[in-house]
Amino acid sequence: MPIDMAANRYGSIAAEIYDIDKPYFALPDTRFHLERFAGFDRPILEPACGSGRTLVPFLQAGLDVTGFDPSGEMLERCRVRCADAGFAPDLSRQRCEDFAYDRRFGAILIPVGSFTLIDDFAAAMAVLRRFRDHLESGGVLVIDLQGLNFLAGGQPDRRRWSAPNGDLLTCGGIRTATDLLRQRAETTYRYERWRDGTLVETQIDLMAQRYWGLDEFRLALEAAGFGEVTVCGGYDRSRGPRQSDRVWTFEAVA
Ligand SMILES: C[S@@+](CC[C@H](N)C(=O)[O-])C[C@H]1O[C@@H](n2cnc3c(N)ncnc32)[C@H](O)[C@@H]1O
Repeated sequence: MPIDMAANRYGSIAAEIYDIDKPYFALPDTRFHLERFAGFDRPILEPACGSGRTLVPFLQAGLDVTGFDPSGEMLERCRVRCADAGFAPDLSRQRCEDFAYDRRFGAILIPVGSFTLIDDFAAAMAVLRRFRDHLESGGVLVIDLQGLNFLAGGQPDRRRWSAPNGDLLTCGGIRTATDLLRQRAETTYRYERWRDGTLVETQIDLMAQRYWGLDEFRLALEAAGFGEVTVCGGYDRSRGPRQSDRVWTFEAVA
């Protein structure tokens, strides 16, 4: 029986782990996207900006970036990290499904596969149309996407980290549902905080993701009104996607 709980919450322990696990520039995407947007002089929107892992380096590179995220914990971290770096960008608590701005952007960027967190096909299509409606004519949409190999996977995920205050943070993720018809997977994560050998906090977060096929996503972009769709694999602009890629990067023009 499905458990009725909000998915993709990114609660406080998940948010704390995110920043320990993924410091600025630890993943290859930031340099790749910074190279793409070097000298870009139009405003950029980063939906699902999280704690600013991408947004802060973009601001430091002189780019005009606005972000939103539904997780209060991630967004608060983003605000603090922007302020620490001397920036106060437009950040708001919104979701991809119903975000709104009274202005348009020159680009929308969603790195590291966050788009898969829109776990329903119809909802994701509506989000792509909403992205197009928030782009200037000729504006670009750049989306990193994990492919169907992730749907087929689902190995248990067990990891641990030391927090700056000495707490031990642990995470155990178990695939709890795989729906091949809807290309959707659910993973239940149990986060724990241990202090002086004692378990002091536990949080359960459900992650629900919809994975896309290569041609399916190209068609989805076109159906949402985008043109000039291109895709590369492995953060390497010189080549197309491969089966073994962890990430494909799509670019399309509004
Ligand atoms: C993998 S993190 C990515 C954060 C950031 N973009 C980065 O580059 O590190 C995914 C983010 O998506 C957010 N998220 C989850 N569901 C969302 C939704 N429906 N709409 C927008 N953001 C969502 C989460 O709160 C989380 O901060």
